[in-house]
Amino acid sequence: MKAQILSHLPQGFPWGRTIQFYDCVDSTNRRARELAAAGAPGGTVLIADRQTAGRGRLGRTFQSPPGKGIYLSVILRPNCPPQDLMHLTCAAAVAMCDAVEAVSGFRPGVKWINDLVAGKRKLAGILTELTLSPKTGLVDCAIVGIGINVCQQPEDFSPELRDTACSLAMVTGKTLSRPALCAAMIQSLHRMDTALRKEKQETMARYRGDCVTLGCRISVIRGDTLRRGQALDLDADGGLVVRFDDGQTETVSSGEVSVRGMYGYV
Ligand code: BTN
Repeated sequence: MKAQILSHLPQGFPWGRTIQFYDCVDSTNRRARELAAAGAPGGTVLIADRQTAGRGRLGRTFQSPPGKGIYLSVILRPNCPPQDLMHLTCAAAVAMCDAVEAVSGFRPGVKWINDLVAGKRKLAGILTELTLSPKTGLVDCAIVGIGINVCQQPEDFSPELRDTACSLAMVTGKTLSRPALCAAMIQSLHRMDTALRKEKQETMARYRGDCVTLGCRISVIRGDTLRRGQALDLDADGGLVVRFDDGQTETVSSGEVSVRGMYGYV
């Protein structure tokens, strides 16, 4: 698989020498964090055919069966204050929409803040994690992890996901090359890394264009509390501006809440 991925990357691609492929790992994000702590450079990319403990946002799991999806993490070393990376998940989402569109011709939507969707179903999830240097308070490393459902058919999903998940094969009717998609994702993440701090406004404008949550009736779930409202807008960092039914307008940040559409998952 690694040789196939490399065959789809341009000669001399800057991250080409730091790609690692695993047949099986618990979580590429967890492993990336371990490698980063041991000094792995920015641009180290980890790809697994299978994860036994794939992780999602807010402590959820991400089903990662072999031969079906792409489970990929990259270590970034931006060396900047964490405030400069508030939009990282949004930037990764746009980068992943670009990669999927380049390979399949289909551009997913984004359900705020980190899910790629096709219609009302989830196609992919993104988990970004920052580690700060205790000495400087700057970002020591940022790990961006992406899981994309590529080849699954409905019966490949567990019963609890069957009504809300989909794959690129289901959406496009095509059998896509996972190595080609991996290579497109890696190139898109490299472009994102180069432009991350210089092109924040442009990136957020593109995220706004991809985000299917805006304008929708939503439920905002914080712990045991559920509040209904309307998703109005995004702030400069990707926070979601919501007008709640009690008349209050607040900006919710992704760390604390889960957002659901009124009628199903999106
Ligand atoms: C979510 O759905 O909330 C995010 C899912 C992120 C899954 C990817 S798969 C590769 C990387 N390794 C993990 O353990 N998680 C991310």
